[in-house]
Amino acid sequence: MQGSQQSIGSSNDRGVAASDGAPRVIWVHDAGKCPDEVRAKAILSKSHARFAAMDAASFAGWLAQLKDGDEPAAVLITSEASAVATERAEALRSRKACERTRLYLACPDEIDESTSVKLDLEESVKTNELPLEIATDLLKAGVAAHRALGRNSLLPRNYLDASYNEIYDWFENTRWDWKDIELGGIKKELLTPAEIAILKESAVIEFGTLPGAHNFLREWGDEYSFSSWALSWGAEEARHSLLQSRYLRAIGIEVQAKHAMYKREPYPIGHNRAATLMMNIISEARAAEYYSGLSHLVQEPVLREIWRLLGRDESRHCRAFAFFCKELCDHDPANIAPSLEMAYVFCADRSGGIKHPAGHFYPHSTSTRGIRETEAFLRDKSAASTDRADRRVFEVVRQITGDASIHSAKDIRRKLRELGA
Ligand SMILES: [Fe+2]
Ligand SMILES: [Fe+2]
Repeated sequence: MQGSQQSIGSSNDRGVAASDGAPRVIWVHDAGKCPDEVRAKAILSKSHARFAAMDAASFAGWLAQLKDGDEPAAVLITSEASAVATERAEALRSRKACERTRLYLACPDEIDESTSVKLDLEESVKTNELPLEIATDLLKAGVAAHRALGRNSLLPRNYLDASYNEIYDWFENTRWDWKDIELGGIKKELLTPAEIAILKESAVIEFGTLPGAHNFLREWGDEYSFSSWALSWGAEEARHSLLQSRYLRAIGIEVQAKHAMYKREPYPIGHNRAATLMMNIISEARAAEYYSGLSHLVQEPVLREIWRLLGRDESRHCRAFAFFCKELCDHDPANIAPSLEMAYVFCADRSGGIKHPAGHFYPHSTSTRGIRETEAFLRDKSAASTDRADRRVFEVVRQITGDASIHSAKDIRRKLRELGA
């Protein structure tokens, strides 16, 4: 998919500002029609933009020597002749470096819709005598719009070319239906005290996904693709907390709100997005294994179905996180080593008893104990195995690296050495 996807702008991942600092805004005017440059500069400096007025000849010369990564944030073209204005706009759009530039046109004739689309105009105004205040308002809007594009080099040209669109149907069409769970049919007498204790811990552990969702939106603040999917993911995880808490209420046990809030403390934003996603791949693979193991053990039919569905959800989450992680690694191979390092950290050493990554981030919380108790319970019953969950992680690592020989943490370490990490 990535090979055919066109991203906006050049490949050097530069930001909103021109190479020497503040974003550049340009007013291109007819010869002898220079606007009040001093006032325009003063107004636009409040938007932290560098203003320049140029006549057509200067603009053509400036465009000819424009370097990648130094595109203007906003350009306003005014002319007494509409054909001349559109010609200048075409010249700007012919430069790939100006793809992100927000373009405004002011000329005597109305610009028709197809020309406006072709020139990718933000706005056109039917006049050639644009008051300075209106002109600077347009340019200020252009600076803000350009700034909103951010730095993410994965941003595609068309909204629907984002990977979110690619994954949406599968994810949406495999969600279980809320009304399929009937808590009225619980046979409480079939539950064991150990299962009730695990259910309580699971409900509380699921609260930990909420700060995770907060973090995703903060860490991916410059794009909309993964962020949009993260909203669906977070909504599903919220169902996991809600459903298990409702089940508990149905059998006379309340989950205290303080447990939900206890886990909301934010943890630091990751250094590398692919590594963050790898940590979630591991979390989901292991959570899927735990729930699946629990569903096979429990006799109570409603809880068995709930845990089965939750296990399926975690498995879907694992697949989706892997999809986005691979996207990052395909886009920039520099992401491969950090994601492998993360996989190695959690797959190689379980000597501290921490198997689910949540236990790493909340070492002081009661839910860490809960995770360990759940793991111990499943291990004693031979119902689930972290090794089995990790086989799925190794499969993801094989997909990311294209190296079919990776089947263990040791193999990941070898691959890291090959990568020079
Ligand atoms: Fe969950
Ligand atoms: Fe999940």
